[in-house]
Amino acid sequence: MKALITGATSGIGQSFAAKLSRKGWSLILTGRNEKRLKEMQQSLGGNIEVIAADLSKRDDVFRVYDFCKGKNVDMLINNAGYGLFGKFEDTDLEDEVNMINVNITALHILTKLFLRDFKKKDHGTILNVASAAGFMSGPLMAAYYASKNYVLRLSVAIYEELRRDRSNVKITVLCPGPVDTNFNNRAGVSFSVKPITADQAAEYALKKAFSGKLFAIPGLFVKFGTFGQRFLPQKLLAAIVYNIQNAKKTSDGKEKALK
Ligand SMILES: NC(=O)c1ccc[n+]([C@@H]2O[C@H](COP(=O)([O-])OP(=O)(O)OC[C@H]3O[C@@H](n4cnc5c(N)ncnc54)[C@H](OP(=O)(O)O)[C@@H]3O)[C@@H](O)[C@H]2O)c1
Repeated sequence: MKALITGATSGIGQSFAAKLSRKGWSLILTGRNEKRLKEMQQSLGGNIEVIAADLSKRDDVFRVYDFCKGKNVDMLINNAGYGLFGKFEDTDLEDEVNMINVNITALHILTKLFLRDFKKKDHGTILNVASAAGFMSGPLMAAYYASKNYVLRLSVAIYEELRRDRSNVKITVLCPGPVDTNFNNRAGVSFSVKPITADQAAEYALKKAFSGKLFAIPGLFVKFGTFGQRFLPQKLLAAIVYNIQNAKKTSDGKEKALK
């Protein structure tokens, strides 16, 4: 069995790689950090191929797909992603558009291309990494939350199309709350609740994906939150999320959040 993992160089992606490698899977790992990819190739052993790519660049996304073509990939894990913290008017436009390119466009392109291949052989699994943020609007991380809403909605819609086709192709969407990775450093926030580990998130997601479940929402607290949010008016929910995000700010984000 073979999997392509995006964002494999760190955090949840690295845990996916370690877990699948231990199960004897062949892997194609990608991320921008070529040195880290080569280290992982050495340390994981087994059949590991790596390809450095910046998924904010469309050509690189197609290059990753072309690299995988004809290699009989069984599983696509769209994990690469990051967040940006700050009032929407303040966040850097270029950084934010790049984030949309990684979180949405790259995931969209790879999902479509692999889905077509998987449908042809009536076999394959797509595991899209969204977030609990995908269930709501996110003041102070507006574009990040919106990007994860896209991932969630896209995955649910594809699930229903596959179900109607009685397809053996499966899609799962991982929606974790806080996970202890490099994510918060990149986003410029600190967590206000205790995060789960990347290993816990990856283990749970793989279990759900292998049993053909649509949703993978690790942790009782997050499950309860994502269930409960549907009964709240959107404006009240946005006000609650603002307060949660505001409490997560780092000293760097403080001024931005309070402006
Ligand atoms: N940590 C959390 O609290 C949390 C919660 C919910 C959802 N998530 C989601 O989980 C996923 C994994 O994040 P993580 O928490 O494991 O964070 P992380 O440790 O920062 O890992 C992010 C991964 O994405 C890759 N990446 C970032 N920008 C990229 C680009 N332009 N091109 C290619 N790869 C890129 C990074 O690789 P390179 O640096 O090598 O490019 C890295 O491997 C993300 O989609 C995130 O939104 C995280």
